[in-house]
Parts: sequence; structure tokens; C-alpha cells
Amino acid sequence: MDKPLKATASGLDSVVAAETALSHVDGEAGRLIVAGHDIGALAASHDYEGALALLWRAAGRAPETAGNIRAALGRAKFDAFGHVPALLAASEGLTVVEGLRAGLAMLPDDHALAPELRLVAAHPVFVAALCRRAEGKAPVAPDPARGQAADFLAMMTGETPKPEKVRALDAYLVTVIDHGMNASTFAARVIASTRAGMVSAIVGGLCALKGPLHGGAPGPVLDMLDEIGVEEAIMPWLDAHLAEGDRLMGFGHRIYKVRDPRADVLNEAVARLAARGAEGPGTEGSGAGRIALARAVERKALEALHAARPGRRLDTNVEFFTALLLEALAIPRAAFTAVFGMARVGGWTAHVIEQERVGRLIRPQSAYVGLWPEE
Ligand code: ACO
Repeated sequence: MDKPLKATASGLDSVVAAETALSHVDGEAGRLIVAGHDIGALAASHDYEGALALLWRAAGRAPETAGNIRAALGRAKFDAFGHVPALLAASEGLTVVEGLRAGLAMLPDDHALAPELRLVAAHPVFVAALCRRAEGKAPVAPDPARGQAADFLAMMTGETPKPEKVRALDAYLVTVIDHGMNASTFAARVIASTRAGMVSAIVGGLCALKGPLHGGAPGPVLDMLDEIGVEEAIMPWLDAHLAEGDRLMGFGHRIYKVRDPRADVLNEAVARLAARGAEGPGTEGSGAGRIALARAVERKALEALHAARPGRRLDTNVEFFTALLLEALAIPRAAFTAVFGMARVGGWTAHVIEQERVGRLIRPQSAYVGLWPEE
């Protein structure tokens, strides 16, 4: 009989699961490179379509300009809007991210149009329609002339968005478009490796993203800020929650041993938006007071985490500033995870293309610790 295998690490911490030309996370240096660009430089120089062009090319698709991708997405968004009645009928009573999951699952894996375009286009159309339904409003049709960020904001509000808001959302979409072998990307690649098709792989990625340890953290970050409310309440709140063994949302990361570089990019985007006075009206607690409270919470949370776990550096992650930025854009917190999916679908689709080119089934082993039949 074979010697029983031993698990290397329960969370696959140090396992290299794939070679990729898409992105590299250096957790010691706090550096993220996406398709050859440092993340701050990429977010400053490319809109979402530009970042998609880089990723899809790096994954092996024929080179396309950002302009061609914008035009193709425009047509695909129109197509996706045709699915909205069925989406709304199928998602009654579901949360926004559950509704998005249902809507994507209705798309066929086998379709003539490039699946990556259909999937990237479907996200903003579906998320906006689901958000508007939650407010008792009819869906707004996409405008093929608008880019991804502008059209999403327009479909959410029914109005032409201010350019500074479009820039801020673009900065967010680019900053989180891809991030190495994170849990949702890994899930998508495993599914792609079975040749199930891109829609199935992306639905699986979204399911993994939904959890609070991955893409579900930003909503709870705002819940935390609401519960704290005023600066004097910060330490008592943090002490009580850490004493209970709770995790502070927006802090800690499996790979980064230092500050998540995406937190800095989004922090700057939040500051730029606030300086232009363009934060969304009508969002609970948005504005200068909110940002000042958040920065104070961040400072004290880092001190408290250091005191609670001196051996483990727990720093601010991307989700803390995601929460502030999306709130400032008047995006309802119930939609935060789905909006993260709307960004990350660019990375997922590129990874699926890359994985399909590799062509080899991902099939690890397990270490059996159960009972053996009696001899
Ligand atoms: N608050 C309090 N304690 C924490 C936190 C936190 N945010 N993060 C980790 N810890 C503690 C753990 O409880 C653990 O303590 P223990 O050894 O006594 O059990 C110790 O620090 C080490 O944590 P790990 O579980 O090894 O950290 P891991 O790498 O598995 O988890 C994770 C990373 C899931 C992101 C974690 O830091 C966390 O839960 N953070 C809060 C949720 C969050 O912000 N998620 C978004 C991540 S970014 C993204 O996915 C896009």
C-alpha cells in the first residue's frame, strides 16, 4: 500500500499552482505588477478597456486596441441588456451578488461571440439593473458609446456621470482587475481546466469572490465605520471585537506582509474625489467627516492589531479603501461585491484564456486522515 500523503499546508500557502504572464504579487515588497506595469502606474495611465487590452493580449489573444475593445463591449452590452427581463424574473428576493450569479449562469457556455466580451459586458448591465430594481426603478439601457466605468454609472443613475467620478471608478476597476492566484481566480482556473467553458469558470470565480474573507469585506468595512460612529468610540469598539476573536474587515492578507499597494492607489483616488467635492450625495456618512473617521479607524486598528498579534504583521488591505471609494461614488453597499466582480472579471477571463491554452486538468491530491477498513 502507498504511504499516506501529508498535506503541505491547509490553505495551499506556498503552493505555486500555475505559471502566468498576467500579474505578480510580491508580498514582501508590497508590489503588484499587472501585465508589465506597477499597479499605481497602470491605474494612472490606463482605463479599464486599456487594462483589458493588456491582459487579454498577455493571455494569448490577438492584440486589440482599447478603442476596439470599447466598441465590441458596446455591442455586447446591448446584447446583455436583452437578458435583463429574464434576469429580473429569476432573481426576485436575491441579493445583488446572488442575482448577478443567477444572471451569468443563464448565459450559454457555447456562443459565437467571444465569451470574454459577453462576460465583461454583462457585469455592469446586470449589476445596474439589479441595483435599480432594489430601489423600485426600471433598468436603464446601456450606451455603446460610453466606456465601462461611465456606462455603469449612467445605468445606475440614469444620468451622465461627472468625469471625476468616471476617473475614480476607472481607477478602482483597473486597480483590482487582477491579483495573482487569489481564491476566485484559482477557482475559475480549476473549472477552466476541466474544459467546462468560460461562463462556468466565471460563475465559479464569482462564487468564490462572494465570501467575506475575499471580496465580501468592503460592505462590512462600512458597517464597522457606522457602528463606531465617532472617534472616541474607536478603541472601545476595536478592543471589544478583538477580544471576541473577530477579524477586522479590510485588514490582513495572505500574501502581503506589508501594506497592500492597492490600498494606496485607492486611498489617493478617494482623496482626489473628495478634493473635487464629487462624492455621491445621499450616501450614508459620505464626505470629509467619513474619510477623517476612516483614517482614524485605520490608524488605531493597525496599532490594535499589532498589539493583539505581535508576531503577525496585519496591515490595511485593498478592501478598506474600496469601501470608501465605492461609497463616495454613491454605489449602494449591497452592490460592493458585485462591483468587485465587475472589475475582476477582466482578470478571470484572461486567466481562463491562459488556462485553456495550458490545457492540463488541475487535479491535486488529498491526504486521507479517515478510518481504514479492518484487515
Ligand atoms: N483581524 C483580526 N485578526 C486577523 C485578521 C484581521 N483582519 N486577519 C488575520 N487575523 C489573525 C487570524 O485570526 C489569525 O490568528 P490565529 O493564528 O490566532 O488564528 C492570524 O491573524 C493569522 O491569520 P491567517 O488566518 O493565517 O490569515 P490568512 O492569510 O489565512 O487570512 C485574510 C487572510 C483572510 C484576508 C484575513 O486577514 C482576514 O480574514 N481579513 C479580514 C477580511 C478581509 O479584509 N478580506 C479581504 C482580503 S483582500 C481580498 O481578498 C481582495
